[in-house]
Amino acid sequence: MFFLVSDPGTAIDPGNAYRYYEDGILVLNSDGYIADIGSAEHIQSRYTFAPHEIIDYSGKFVVPGFIDAHLHYPQTEIIASYGHQLMQWLEHYAFRAEKRFADKTYAETISRFFFNELLRNGTTTALIFGTVHQVSVEALFEEAEKLNMRIIGGKVMMDRNAPKSLLDSPESAYTESKGLIETWHNKRGRIHYAVTPRFAITSSEAQLKAAQQLYHEFDEVYLHTHVSENWDEIEQIKQLFPSSTSYLNVYNDFGLVGPRAIFAHGIHLSKAEFDLLAEKEAAIAFCPTSNLFLGSGLFNFTQAQHAGIRLALGSDIGAGTSFSLLKTMAEAYKVVQLQKKNPAESGKQTELTPFKAFYLATLGAAKALHIENKIGSLHPGKEGDFIVLNPNATPLMRLRMQTAQSLAERLFAFMMLADDRAVEAVYLMGKRWIAPDVNRFP
Ligand code: GUN
Ligand code: ZN
Repeated sequence: MFFLVSDPGTAIDPGNAYRYYEDGILVLNSDGYIADIGSAEHIQSRYTFAPHEIIDYSGKFVVPGFIDAHLHYPQTEIIASYGHQLMQWLEHYAFRAEKRFADKTYAETISRFFFNELLRNGTTTALIFGTVHQVSVEALFEEAEKLNMRIIGGKVMMDRNAPKSLLDSPESAYTESKGLIETWHNKRGRIHYAVTPRFAITSSEAQLKAAQQLYHEFDEVYLHTHVSENWDEIEQIKQLFPSSTSYLNVYNDFGLVGPRAIFAHGIHLSKAEFDLLAEKEAAIAFCPTSNLFLGSGLFNFTQAQHAGIRLALGSDIGAGTSFSLLKTMAEAYKVVQLQKKNPAESGKQTELTPFKAFYLATLGAAKALHIENKIGSLHPGKEGDFIVLNPNATPLMRLRMQTAQSLAERLFAFMMLADDRAVEAVYLMGKRWIAPDVNRFP
């Protein structure tokens, strides 16, 4: 059993930042919360009564479920679409795919497929974009409620610079988002709402004001959008908002930078923008597979680390190329490596350690989303969302694990070599998720 208890920073041996039990026991309450955790010896000495059920995962790693801090479920079908960078990719692939979500039955079919894909990759919580259609979010939330998954999602707000059939208005975006919040947010299942203006290019000032009103009107709602991903995008932002001093300040000018605001990408942010994010307790979702796939650029992890911002990982499906947060960790590591330009300076530059990578996919993400009191680690009192990873899932992993000397080496082998094949079991609120028959899917 392994989990982080605090930010391990960038030290290869982060001391007290984690707990590891080679032979451990996780005790769950009948209502799915974590009751206790510790070494087998310690736990066995504490309980005199017989447990209801014992499940043996000897030789495996029990870790908190992964948290994906940014992805688009309606883009599941267009993953791996060839060519183009962001703005053309949106036009050629994303907008075309999103039009189909006006049909609720279609949205339900893709929602089922999408959650199956998340769970079989070990992701138990996600922050999710719908489309502009209210029914797309209803389909998503209904499916999450059936699975009892903790998710955050929202209807895209988009009233300009996109195909006509995908546009709403400031008024309809406000009314529909409010309706979804009042029905779902903190009310049904483990579902929370994120006010979701797509990005400042596709929302008028009137719509950004509507987003501001929603973000401040309701308790604990999120703000979820994109920032500073691509140079053409940044240029258009300058034309559209000439009086704002930076891209992030466009959002800040509308009161949208604050706690529970999650911005995807942030590749080309200045130091002042990083500092603003830190000061406002807002977060960045670092999406390395997407950033590499669209050729958007290399996220400045070192600067983010120095600024002390809340940081998480996002798959950014469908511009991202994998649902697996293990593969996302591997690409994040390479993105950080690629920025060590000058060998003489490399000593000063940060590396993404395996402890930090697991932190970003679990407790760090929970902190970025302000839900660290509920998920992200295996502390007693938290919700029983955890997964079982098999270190011997493939011949290559088995070979590499045999020579791995330390916990850091084994975690690093997981992050570089593992994927969905290593996810042996997934638990939501203490109950094992059983994968549905794949023949149910399109
Ligand atoms: N910026 C605005 N919309 C999108 C999107 O759908 N995907 C990505 N990667 N960036 C965006
Ligand atoms: Zn995105």
